[in-house]
Amino acid sequence: MHIHARSYKQRPDSWPRTKTYDLNPPMSWRSARWMTFNIICIVGIIIFSYSTAKMAVPPCYADLGKSAKDIFNKGYGFGLVKLDVKTKSSSGVEFKTAGSSNTDTSKVAGTLETKYKRSEYGLTFTEKWNTDNTLGTEITIEDQIAKGLKLTFDTTFSPNTGKKSGKVKTAYKREFVNLGCDVDFDFAGPTIHGAAVVGYEGWLAGYQMTFDTAKSKMSQNNFAVGYKTGDFQLHTNVNDGAEFGGSIYQKVSDTLETSVNLAWTAGSNSTRFGIAAKYQLDKDATLSAKVNNTSLVGVGYTQTLRPGVKLTLSALVDGKNINAGGHKLGLGLELEA
Ligand SMILES: *[C@@H]1O[C@H](CO)[C@@H](O)[C@H](O)[C@H]1NC(C)=O
Ligand SMILES: *[C@@H]1O[C@H](CO)[C@@H](O)[C@H](O)[C@H]1NC(C)=O
Ligand SMILES: *[C@@H]1O[C@H](CO)[C@@H](O)[C@H](O)[C@H]1NC(C)=O
Repeated sequence: MHIHARSYKQRPDSWPRTKTYDLNPPMSWRSARWMTFNIICIVGIIIFSYSTAKMAVPPCYADLGKSAKDIFNKGYGFGLVKLDVKTKSSSGVEFKTAGSSNTDTSKVAGTLETKYKRSEYGLTFTEKWNTDNTLGTEITIEDQIAKGLKLTFDTTFSPNTGKKSGKVKTAYKREFVNLGCDVDFDFAGPTIHGAAVVGYEGWLAGYQMTFDTAKSKMSQNNFAVGYKTGDFQLHTNVNDGAEFGGSIYQKVSDTLETSVNLAWTAGSNSTRFGIAAKYQLDKDATLSAKVNNTSLVGVGYTQTLRPGVKLTLSALVDGKNINAGGHKLGLGLELEA
């Protein structure tokens, strides 16, 4: 404890960036505990990384059940007119711009992103800006300190409000294990997100928690269990012991993928459920459809007009009130050069 306390006190002098994050609260048992936790996290991850071998690497916690989620979320854009443009300069800098207009509120939003990679050092630099006037910088180092270890430093700054934020993310993956430890710096005190997923022969088990050092309390406590084979995936989760969820993804054939989703809250009778399907019409066109227990029906159609030009049309219809208004349309265009 004493050693950690000392190194924490020294930081404002030796590391000027600490000032920006307002990392200057009085030394307390809380920060000592946070430092200890954080160091254990990182050391644990590094020790793990010094053994080798290659087999199935489980996904990170956030990606558990992703195939099912993607069937529900991709290929739609209700109530939005969207344009995405991706280009790459000869020097290897990637530019991404996106603009959207909400057809209900007429609010226009845009983002701009540039990405530069130095593969030989495993480094990626990303600069982001959006129309809410938030600037973001992200630096990623992957597979350098150890194979499978990824470090990300992420900062955002809003010149209008003066609001700043910073994050340090550590992720380590290898066969059977995927670990993550993120520290979110905030005014009140850092928040720590920890996650672990283990996988064995198609079975996956994951745990995710969030610890708020300012309140000195666990603010999230999630478990997930799943099973995955080539064309079938089952995912179940419990969040904070009260929110239950489950999803099934199945690749029925080369052209058809389906997904079912269920969710309920402890102590309440209502179950939320939805089904979704994605059908590949031909190599350039896909059709998606989904419906949930509120009778909202979504359909989407994606067509690649020519290489690098993709058009998405979508519609959301209230199945209970077909004749009434309130339906939503969406139009998206993606250009890539
Ligand atoms: C669940 O439903 C039953 C009957 O439909 C009702 O009597 C009960 O109050 C409901 N419970 C909750 C927590 O909503
Ligand atoms: C459908 O989902 C809603 C949540 O929006 C829930 O309140 C309702 O009870 C669900 N209905 C049925 C029939 O499960
Ligand atoms: C039902 O689906 C619509 C559109 O897909 C979505 O906006 C809505 O939140 C869903 N409702 C529930 C209860 O899942």
